[in-house]
Amino acid sequence: MKRKWWHDKVAYQIYPKSFLDSDGDGIGDLRGIISKLDYLKDLGIDIIWLSPIYQSPFVDQGYDISDYYKIAEEFGTMEEFDELLAEAKKREMFILMDLVVNHCSDKHEWFQKALEDPEGEYAQYFHFVQGKDGKEPSNYRSYFGGSAWEKVPGTEKYYLHMFAKEQPDLNWENPKLRDEIYKMMNWWLDKGLAGFRIDAIINIKKDLSFPSFEPDGTDGLASCVKMVEEVQGVGEYFEDMKAHTYGKYDAFTVAEVFNMKQDELPEFIGDNGHFSTIFDFSAHELVQGSHGWYDSRPFVFTDWRDVIFASQKEAQGIGFKANIIENHDEPRGASRFLPEYAQNETGVKMLATTFMFLYGIPFIYQGQEIGMTNCRRSDISQYDDISTKDQYREALQAGCTREKALECCYENSRDNARTPMQWNGGKNAGFTSGTPWLALNSDYRKINVEEQEKRDDSVLSYYRKLIALKKSSEFKEVLTYGRFVPEYEDSDSIFAYHRIREDGGQNILVAANYGKETCEIPLKRELIKVLISNIGEEDVIEREAKKSGKIKLNSCQAVALEIKE
Ligand code: GLC
Repeated sequence: MKRKWWHDKVAYQIYPKSFLDSDGDGIGDLRGIISKLDYLKDLGIDIIWLSPIYQSPFVDQGYDISDYYKIAEEFGTMEEFDELLAEAKKREMFILMDLVVNHCSDKHEWFQKALEDPEGEYAQYFHFVQGKDGKEPSNYRSYFGGSAWEKVPGTEKYYLHMFAKEQPDLNWENPKLRDEIYKMMNWWLDKGLAGFRIDAIINIKKDLSFPSFEPDGTDGLASCVKMVEEVQGVGEYFEDMKAHTYGKYDAFTVAEVFNMKQDELPEFIGDNGHFSTIFDFSAHELVQGSHGWYDSRPFVFTDWRDVIFASQKEAQGIGFKANIIENHDEPRGASRFLPEYAQNETGVKMLATTFMFLYGIPFIYQGQEIGMTNCRRSDISQYDDISTKDQYREALQAGCTREKALECCYENSRDNARTPMQWNGGKNAGFTSGTPWLALNSDYRKINVEEQEKRDDSVLSYYRKLIALKKSSEFKEVLTYGRFVPEYEDSDSIFAYHRIREDGGQNILVAANYGKETCEIPLKRELIKVLISNIGEEDVIEREAKKSGKIKLNSCQAVALEIKE
């Protein structure tokens, strides 16, 4: 495997709308981000991914772009963006923009022109398709519910939208459209971007015959995913895009890819893959129900461990995956992946330990570093997210009570991760002097950056230590390139693995006890050093372990050990 500049980096996702508001309008902005670069540098962050900051009507919170060359007014100006790039560069940090090119906003000039002339040039930028027997061209259900087709006014045609109707899909078959996208991508790369996080990209290839599928819900529709799964040839688009844009730069790309076909990983993230990396969503897919949030599968520790281990082994020797606990589309990991008895600082640190040393590039989502949690709402009107509203409706339609439907939202809503960042215990958690666009999580008086800055044993301090260890000159090599080898898999409460240098130089054992009871694990090799523990003092643990040849792990304890190879 070729070594790349991003392999040993730690990344951080900023959701700009909820990060920090500098001008009191209740919406986070670029100036807020600039003012926290030192905070991120201190944490040990190298790469920053900004969720979309382009001009947008915000129907899907910026994932509906109406001008790819403009910064949303709410967030600031292009001058401020340039300043952000320069300030990041000064600190040797790298900025990624979110690239949303499966679709744009219905307010984008291209779509407006297409509506004006449905037979004209711009209609070719989209999928304007003749209806069948006075109905939609096919029975696709969009990702956000309802038909994926919307009537083009004044015609018998429909346009395709795999997400909201305000997000018309772009027609990648059209070389003119591709050229426009590539021109735009290069324009941003030339500004000094380090690369892109690439949104929903697996969807860009369509089967232009738009076949209908067997309905999979009571609405008589079939998920549009079916078409994505069946159609061939999306890789050719990725290669074309790469050759015309980021392939010419030493850029970093992380793609959001669901529904990859089997055995395709080398094509995606191998040495000459389409992308630098793709997110590992295996843990998130594990709990997905077949219909929606209301039939989510319960979280089972051993299943979770199994899918992560399988994914680690799959990537090994091929390329790097981007590891996540949460992001702006997922609930908070501290609420999802921890049993109730572990939903505290110790448990959150355990989860962080397990995650940080996995093979791949860690992506931390804003607030994860202080252990932010899911947020309970008492009524659906308190949610903003388009997908949450759809899932709530679906739950009710499937016969759930209002309470049960709300509980599904509490457990799964994308708004869980979108509540404002908790900077301090004062008014609005220090996020804004105005009225926050989305209500805060009420636990901000307890969980916030300022309070955790003061404590050496806080989650924040612990994240700093973990990252420092991962990047330390002594352990960087093994924790970046070391082979991943699972350990103690026969236990149903231990999450443990090794990272082993190929040259036999070092062996690190990461072990965590997710169980309720204390347990002891025998050390199969001689202990050299306890590198970190979330409970107790490292040197005391080390002395005891050296004496007994075992490591005692309390409930929710996690350690990283250097052992003899
Ligand atoms: C991706 C984004 C999500 C968005 C969707 C449509 O999944 O992460 O937030 O709603 O694409 O752009």
